Amino acid sequence: MTLTFTTHMTMSYTVYNEAGGAHKTTTGVNLSEAHSRQGLNTLYIDGDQQEANGTYLKHAGDDRDDGDADNLVRHMLGQPRGDLRDLIQTTDEGFDVLPAHDMIEDFTELLLKREDFETNMGNDDFNRFDHLHRVLWQENSLQDDYDVIIVDPNAQAENMLVNAIYATRTIVVPAKPAGKGSKSLKGLSGLLSAMSEELGIDIGVAAVILSGVSNTATHQRYVDKIDAEYGVAGQIGKRESLMDEMWDARGSAFKVVEKGWLDGEPGKRGVRDREIDTLETILDIADDIADQFDVAPPNTPEIKIEGVA
Ligand SMILES: Nc1ncnc2c1ncn2[C@@H]1O[C@H](COP(=O)(O)OP(=O)(O)OP(=O)(O)O)[C@@H](O)[C@H]1O
Ligand SMILES: [Mg+2]
Repeated sequence: MTLTFTTHMTMSYTVYNEAGGAHKTTTGVNLSEAHSRQGLNTLYIDGDQQEANGTYLKHAGDDRDDGDADNLVRHMLGQPRGDLRDLIQTTDEGFDVLPAHDMIEDFTELLLKREDFETNMGNDDFNRFDHLHRVLWQENSLQDDYDVIIVDPNAQAENMLVNAIYATRTIVVPAKPAGKGSKSLKGLSGLLSAMSEELGIDIGVAAVILSGVSNTATHQRYVDKIDAEYGVAGQIGKRESLMDEMWDARGSAFKVVEKGWLDGEPGKRGVRDREIDTLETILDIADDIADQFDVAPPNTPEIKIEGVA
């Protein structure tokens, strides 16, 4: 098998943690908004078939259950029904969304069928991993439109995940400061070198972000341990009320705080200093990640509280 690469200049990364519920979608959406506030044209690609995904969170993808609709998977399988750019939705926040579609659930099965077909046709160069890479950078040149592309695949949908990592070459890892979070990181370097070898590429880790951190001695012990072993780009506090409200506000933590969302309504949330701190931390992490890519963001983002009780 030969692997062909195109180098692309766009800052792109996959939000990854093998563990479910590790705050990947929350982190991906908040970082997307942070990058767009830095003045970077940002696209969030949802590769997760679950209901509770970034597409729901951002109120996008109304036709995700329409089996006939064009969607990212059709493009990845080489059977598009339209222009990929027509799938991209603008949102009421700064960044764009390429929504998920229910077809993601069948991606592995469809991909393997396609692979069988190609093999039977005598094509030995079919590469199971390069479909997102081809769609984004080669067929559609999204690097011309976007400064940042963030992919949020479901870690259980392995082929979508591997395609995401192959396309972005870089991961950002949110993890919880707990025994489970520490264990999931432990497997990470082994997994990354196995993947690098299998895919024939270098995979970088742009940031490890501890999320859901409280002041307990246990959490702090894990923070110190994980920081010593992996280097932590930032710590996001335990902010259940803020992050859960995102699902009602259908938007980022910035929207929740700035528009004062509480109990499913805007204009009701008071200003909480620790929540402003959390937004600032997210902006700092976004800065740190941009720095890793040698990208100098044109804007210094501001947090503007409006419509708060
Ligand atoms: N900093 C935080 N503090 C407390 N709770 C949080 C924090 N960040 C996210 N959460 C909550 O944790 C839950 C899971 O988050 P999220 O959906 O982002 O995880 P995920 O890793 O994307 O899950 P999945 O593996 O299902 O894709 C959500 O209810 C979210 O509101
Ligand atoms: Mg998720």
